[in-house]
Amino acid sequence: MRQSYARKSQHSSGQPAHLSLRTLSALSGRVLMQTPRSTLDEIYAAIWNELTRAAVDRHHPWRTPVLATIANQGQLADARTVVVREVTAGHLTIYTDARSPKVTQIEEHPYGTFVFWSPQLHWQVRAEAHLTVVRGGERVTQAWHQTQTSPQARDYLAAQAPGTALREPTDAVMGEGVSFALIDAAVTRIDWLELGRAGHRRATWTENARGWVQP
Ligand SMILES: Cc1cc2nc3c(=O)[nH]c(=O)nc-3n(C[C@H](O)[C@H](O)[C@H](O)COP(=O)(O)O)c2cc1C
Repeated sequence: MRQSYARKSQHSSGQPAHLSLRTLSALSGRVLMQTPRSTLDEIYAAIWNELTRAAVDRHHPWRTPVLATIANQGQLADARTVVVREVTAGHLTIYTDARSPKVTQIEEHPYGTFVFWSPQLHWQVRAEAHLTVVRGGERVTQAWHQTQTSPQARDYLAAQAPGTALREPTDAVMGEGVSFALIDAAVTRIDWLELGRAGHRRATWTENARGWVQP
């Protein structure tokens, strides 16, 4: 079971003999989190710390999780990569084309799961959430204001809705209007898995319960 997990990024000979102070300081959070002394509270706080960093650091491995939703009247699981744009206490926000199939799926079944993997921390996080599509209001106006001058703006300006059949890949044209929406995720459960040479660790948190579980 243990050998089945990939551990490509770890040094085979353990810690290098000489580490600069800067490297040690960069590693210290991670090393601390991997000691058996880490408590559930510390790990939970570290998860949210990483998520908060992911929203502002485009190189963070948790910047682009997979978001799974319920499709086809509950007959199918759908999933796609998204960008985490905002993180506030217990909430994640992503931006999307308001006409995209995921929006319809969420309006029919407002539940989803984000999956994050960090090769640096060897952490997988699955965050179950209640999802809400936000199509208008101050937050949408504000987010569009920040997006409209970026190269990503064209993602929300196409004449055709995402998934529309095209004769040629170059047939997409800019439309007249903006199709921009937020998807707000109120996280209801976190499932954390850490891969470790000496053994894996896994824990879950909900509003009312938390605890270690068998990996
Ligand atoms: C790295 C990456 C980041 C993406 N970020 C987003 C995003 O933040 N929002 C979004 O709607 N689609 C994003 N996409 C595109 C989606 O993965 C997907 O192809 C598109 O939204 C249509 O999905 P749907 O048919 O499930 O609605 C991203 C794709 C990649 C590869």
